[in-house]
Amino acid sequence: MRILHPLFENNRRWSEKMRQGDPEFFRQLVNQQKPNYLWIGCSDSRVPANEIVGLPPGELFVHRNIANLVIHTDMNCLSVLQYAVDVLGIEHVIVCGHYGCGGVRAALEGHAHGLVDNWLRHIRDIYQKHRALLEAEASEGACLRRLCELNVMEQVINVGNTTIVQDAWSRGQALAVHGWIYDLKDGLLKGLDVCVASGEEHTALQGRDVTCAS
Ligand code: CO
Repeated sequence: MRILHPLFENNRRWSEKMRQGDPEFFRQLVNQQKPNYLWIGCSDSRVPANEIVGLPPGELFVHRNIANLVIHTDMNCLSVLQYAVDVLGIEHVIVCGHYGCGGVRAALEGHAHGLVDNWLRHIRDIYQKHRALLEAEASEGACLRRLCELNVMEQVINVGNTTIVQDAWSRGQALAVHGWIYDLKDGLLKGLDVCVASGEEHTALQGRDVTCAS
C-alpha cells in the first residue's frame, strides 16, 4: 500500500531504455532545459502532453489543470507562463483542449461536485457568453464539442490578455499562442483557427464573430 511497486518497476525499465538509446541522455538533461513550447492542457489522464506530440523530456514545458483553463488570477498558471516566456524564452504557447472533456461536460450539466464547481464556473460563464450559438447546435453531443472548442478559444484570448504576453509582444518578442483540440476517439490533434502572434491579431480574435471559430 505504501510503495507502488509496479510504478517503480516501470520507472527502472524506462530509465534503462532511455540510457540504452542514448547513454548521455540524462546527463545532458541535467545541465539544461531549453523547451520551445509551453503546453497548457487538461489534467485528464487520457491526454498525456509529451506522448501526443511525440516530444521527449526537455522539449515541452507543461501546465495542466481541469479543463485547461487560464484564469486571470491563477498564480500557478501565470507563474508557469511567466517563467516560460521571460526566463525560458519559449516561442509557442499551446492551449490544448479535448473533446469529451469531463470538466466541460460537468459545467454543462450543472450537477453539484463540490469545490471544483467553483473552478468550472468559468466554463459556465463561457457557455453564457456563447449561449445562442451553443443552443443552436443540433444535439447535446454537438453542443459539448462546440463548448470544448470555444473554451480553447477563450483560453487563447486569456493567455493573450496576460501582462506577460502583452509585454512580450510590446517588446517585439516572437511569441505565438495556439489553440488546439485533441480527439480521444482517434488520438489526433486539430488546430482551431485561433492562433495569435501579435497584439493586433489578439485584438482581432477577441472581436471575431465566433460562428466561424472552428
Ligand atoms: Co478534460
